[in-house]
Amino acid sequence: EKVLLAYSGGLDTSCILKWLIQKGFDVICFVGDVGQKEDFQSVKDKAIKIGATEVVVKDLRNLFVEHFVWPAVKMGLIYEKRYLLGTALARPCISLALIETAKEFNCMYISHGATGKGNDQIRFELSCYALNPHLKVIAPWRLPEFCEKFQGRNDLMEFAKVNAIPVSASLKSPWSTDSNIMHTSFEAGVLEDPAQIAPDEIFISTKSPMKAPDTPILIEIVFNGGVPIRCVETSTGKTFEQPLHILEYLNQIGGEHGIGRVDIVENRFIGLKSRGVYETPGARILFEAHQDLEIYCLDREILRVKSLLADRMADYVYNGFWFSPEAEYVKHCVEESQRTVNGRVTVEIFKGNCWAVSRESLYSLYNQELASMSVHGQLNPSAATGFIEINAIRLKEHYRAYHNATPN
Ligand code: ARG
Ligand code: SIN
Repeated sequence: EKVLLAYSGGLDTSCILKWLIQKGFDVICFVGDVGQKEDFQSVKDKAIKIGATEVVVKDLRNLFVEHFVWPAVKMGLIYEKRYLLGTALARPCISLALIETAKEFNCMYISHGATGKGNDQIRFELSCYALNPHLKVIAPWRLPEFCEKFQGRNDLMEFAKVNAIPVSASLKSPWSTDSNIMHTSFEAGVLEDPAQIAPDEIFISTKSPMKAPDTPILIEIVFNGGVPIRCVETSTGKTFEQPLHILEYLNQIGGEHGIGRVDIVENRFIGLKSRGVYETPGARILFEAHQDLEIYCLDREILRVKSLLADRMADYVYNGFWFSPEAEYVKHCVEESQRTVNGRVTVEIFKGNCWAVSRESLYSLYNQELASMSVHGQLNPSAATGFIEINAIRLKEHYRAYHNATPN
């Protein structure tokens, strides 16, 4: 039987690859490039050396940015108020490519190296089933047979040694990392104790705000339909227009200025809490800029409804339901709201902070004359007296009831 393995080149998936072969499977490895800094040639060589029949490396960076990161910015997705969902968004993207590849190679089986305690297993498998219900998944980390053989990392190392699987030196870092063009995540190992401050050397794409430049930088971001279409470094005029280039540029500048670090304890879907540290420089800047423009352009009540939808959608994405009827529905609703989110925002970036300092839009509902403190404009100020009077009824009634009911 043929099985398509989501392969990273790391210790776990390398051992899984060998193990599947030993079980008699014909293994094709799939490597999705979502912007992790990786030497794909050596990942490929390694898989072949271990015994893969075929290795498919697909560049998914544009797909990921345009169809997953951009929609997330547009929808304003943030999980439990802090996590921008970098890993949760990459999983359905990789799954999409995995499904296509499975079709190309006529594979009925798909396998991955996610553990039985995590979110990633759920995301991979739900995405795959949503796209092709006939697929069968082999999740070794949930098979008693596999778990008995491999209790932990030491057993994997031993197996690797016996089977001549090369083990890279980078494995020594005492935490687990997942990286893509949107973010890098760190979990496990020394981070498992939430009381323990994360060592500064874990960070790979952001400088500590303490070491960031002493001068702020201004960046102008132009949005159309709620997604960035241009990004200009104000001081130099350097301009970026391709989605991938915009994100790469913002990652670089955001990283330089220490933007986008978070250290949280989050709720995993299966019900346990887990400590995660993330760095998401570019997307953090986009999130701020988009939110500013949105408040500037959108009707207040649409904004409120949209924010409820964003909260629900963040859960759907986190829990692995990117491909689901509910997520489709939310995407449609949000699309409708973003037709007027057009314009430009200038953000200032300085020592780990980023905030909007100027915005402009032909679609804004802002009316300077109406808002101005210098002219009366269209609004009849005495009408506000009645507005306040009516709104005060409830408060006065509350006061009356409360003060009658309680002595003193
Ligand atoms: N806790 C984050 C999430 O659930 C990050 C997961 C990282 N995954 C990994 N295989 N290292 O989205
Ligand atoms: C894993 O368990 O494989 C990584 C963490 C997660 O999926 O949440």
